Amino acid sequence: MSVGNEVPRVIAICSGKGGVGKTFFSVHLAEYAAKKGKRVLLLDADLGLANVDVMLGISPKGSLLELVRGEKGLSDLIVSARAGFDVLPGGSGLYELTALDTEQQQVMMNEMRRISSDYDLVLIDAAAGIGDNVLYFVSASESALVVLTPDPTSLTDAYALIKVLSRQRNMRRFMVAVNQAEVFDAQVAFKRLLSVADRYLDVHLDYVGNLPHSPDVREAVQGQKLLTVQDAPVMRQTLDMVLANILARERDLSRNGGLQFFWEHSLNEGMNIDAKVQEESS
Ligand SMILES: Nc1ncnc2c1ncn2[C@@H]1O[C@H](COP(=O)(O)OP(=O)(O)OP(=O)(O)O)[C@@H](O)[C@H]1O
Ligand SMILES: [Mg+2]
Repeated sequence: MSVGNEVPRVIAICSGKGGVGKTFFSVHLAEYAAKKGKRVLLLDADLGLANVDVMLGISPKGSLLELVRGEKGLSDLIVSARAGFDVLPGGSGLYELTALDTEQQQVMMNEMRRISSDYDLVLIDAAAGIGDNVLYFVSASESALVVLTPDPTSLTDAYALIKVLSRQRNMRRFMVAVNQAEVFDAQVAFKRLLSVADRYLDVHLDYVGNLPHSPDVREAVQGQKLLTVQDAPVMRQTLDMVLANILARERDLSRNGGLQFFWEHSLNEGMNIDAKVQEESS
């Protein structure tokens, strides 16, 4: 089934191991897409340890906890970043956000549906690892960008995440970006991941580029500033590739349907997977 342009594309930025650069990628991808004329919402889904607002130097108007408790609506919480996109901050140190129950997920679904026509792209900066919230957010997205570094533990954790998402949530296609690596090392890391994934999993991995280790990144993060693409030409190439990859994809509601089906899909995916398999095989 094809979907019209009025339904935003939902992309999750995720990783197995923490601290690999997801938030850094997310905010720069949001800015890059906004500069290309897309209306972008960046959702900080690292619930409990949110940090998009910190990286951007913006002040949240509340937390997602108030949203899921029904105390505030999305429009009360969304903040416009100077870089030209909107941010839905998460909430830090709020334990309740680390494991949303079905009712709370439903509240978010209803709220997100209401604002779906305001955006072309919704980027979700997920938490690291394979916790329930991560699986919920990533499997609800139309596509996933997995960030890793060439560090062997980052590779094995990325593999573990892809394995769980493919086996438990039926996700088949992933973009992969390698951070803190020159082109050669990034490609070696990707090929390692690809060879194991090809052997043991039924998935398709698209290499979308690298970002070298650079003191400029640390400085930008510490100064709560964004790198400009002139200062980071490799990053621009990678962001360009990610965006092209996202936009080139045929819309497919049978897999994931963008924002208006976003939360619904995730809930169904978790609960009805057996029913779906039965239906398809009968
Ligand atoms: N290419 C790079 N060169 C140098 N330092 C980097 C690079 N990428 C990321 N970093 C450093 O790594 C830190 C972690 O990055 P970031 O917060 O984006 O990771 P994350 O994957 O979102 O972490 P978490 O799993 O905790 O959410 C940054 O504060 C930055 O200092
Ligand atoms: Mg982060």
